[in-house]
Amino acid sequence: MVVAIDGPAGAGKSTVARATARALGFTYLDSGAMYRAAALTLLEEGGAASESAERLQIDVGERVIANGRDVTEAIRTPEVSEAASRIATNEKVRAALVAKQRALLESGDWVAEGRDIGTVVAPEAEVKVFLTASPEERARRRADELRADLETVQRDQALRDAQDEGREHSPLRPAAGAIELDTSGLSVEQVVERIASLARAARMG
Ligand code: CDP
Repeated sequence: MVVAIDGPAGAGKSTVARATARALGFTYLDSGAMYRAAALTLLEEGGAASESAERLQIDVGERVIANGRDVTEAIRTPEVSEAASRIATNEKVRAALVAKQRALLESGDWVAEGRDIGTVVAPEAEVKVFLTASPEERARRRADELRADLETVQRDQALRDAQDEGREHSPLRPAAGAIELDTSGLSVEQVVERIASLARAARMG
């Protein structure tokens, strides 16, 4: 079974998806880590973005291992965030990474998180959630997490939102049948409980 969690940066997807996977005993898939790892390879090695994506050998568990190297921390810098969002507009990059994601989701139980899981990667997912929060709250969370300046985070976030929502291929939007959940003012536990009960209900019937 697949639980798809999509939404913009800072909506709380990673924390919520990880905790939901733990609550349900499912495996967690961070699809953004794949875009980030492909972007890191590109920044370091140059060449064509599509080649970085096609050649990427990636294992996204507790640690992110890309082409044999632990890049868990290296893929979280603002430079990689920006580059990931940029290469994510490339159709060939998307096709290569979507294929890797689909191969993983084919068997087993997953909580998969990203921008296009419910719309493109796994439209047949039993549970689809679109997580949102106000732009202010999202920027505040991200600035706390990165210990960064709020204004800079807000500016980077607005740029990435526009890029993710405005791109031609797989723009960020709620999937058909997705439940929209605004996490502003909700605790992580409340959001996780809500999604876990949707998954349990889907499993029963
Ligand atoms: O954690 P955060 O929401 O900041 O970003 P992420 O999920 O790690 O994704 C980084 C970038 O990859 C996003 O800005 C998107 O442009 C892109 N992405 C995507 O296009 N499709 C996905 N399924 C996941 C990420």
